[in-house]
Amino acid sequence: MHDFPVEALRSVELGVPDIGASVEFYTKTWGLQVVQQDADKVFLAGSGDDFHILELKQSTRAELRKVTFRARSREDLLKLHSLCEEAGATVLRAPQALTAPSGGFGFVIREPQGCVLEFVHGDLRRQPSHTPLVPVRLAHVNINSAEIEALSDFYRNSLGFRLTDRSRMMAFLCCNQDHHSVVLAEAPVNGLNHIAFQMPDLESVMRGSGRVVDAGYPIGWGVGRHGPGDNVFAYFVDPHGVVIEYTAEVLQVDESYRVGGPQDWVWPPGRTDQWGIAPPKSEACKKAQQAVGFSAP
Ligand SMILES: [Fe+2]
Repeated sequence: MHDFPVEALRSVELGVPDIGASVEFYTKTWGLQVVQQDADKVFLAGSGDDFHILELKQSTRAELRKVTFRARSREDLLKLHSLCEEAGATVLRAPQALTAPSGGFGFVIREPQGCVLEFVHGDLRRQPSHTPLVPVRLAHVNINSAEIEALSDFYRNSLGFRLTDRSRMMAFLCCNQDHHSVVLAEAPVNGLNHIAFQMPDLESVMRGSGRVVDAGYPIGWGVGRHGPGDNVFAYFVDPHGVVIEYTAEVLQVDESYRVGGPQDWVWPPGRTDQWGIAPPKSEACKKAQQAVGFSAP
């Protein structure tokens, strides 16, 4: 198996202008639960063993404040820190014991294209609740990049990710057996494209989608089955314009996986998923996938 210093995507932090509305949506509709609440921050967990998978922080606008990865060991974490510095990332917090409720040891950088990344080791874990029909953990983040090859180089050379597929518009990167934990999308401006939450199975994607639709949030794209990664998907736009995805059944890969190129991922005209049943993506979803930026330096 490829030697990955990062073992998992753990959590994301979003800034939101109305934290109460976001907490209401992510608990009652999306299926997460509040595990800790500070003055201006709320930590939400899925049904898996991560202490939290989403942090919400009161902010003036919707923004991606941070993506957190778990390093395999403290030694790997320190090595990652050196490699990030060498690659020109800005160190926002040097390696140290973390004061967040999830604890552990870690550091924070801003990568050269502006996204804040945190790396942790030894963070607290929860007893999985195995609640049906709700997200278990994060599946992937999809980051817009105006210079996708440079960002792909950073993820591969400095963070130890491996490329699994390159479609015409996207680069798929893995750090464990999941076909992708990070996806980079070609875009005019750097920012957040969407956040995907891992559901227990296909049935949960379907029933979960029904719950979200019932709450007044239409499906923006899906339900369908993606090409690269083979995962089923349903996309929504949250109350603050952040695009979120329910997904399941992502392809499990090892180093025998043949890296695909743009020529491998061509659909017949009008088709946007493997099944051929997903209606075209809504204009609102397309627009939202380009509208959420990173927190300002
Ligand atoms: Fe996705």
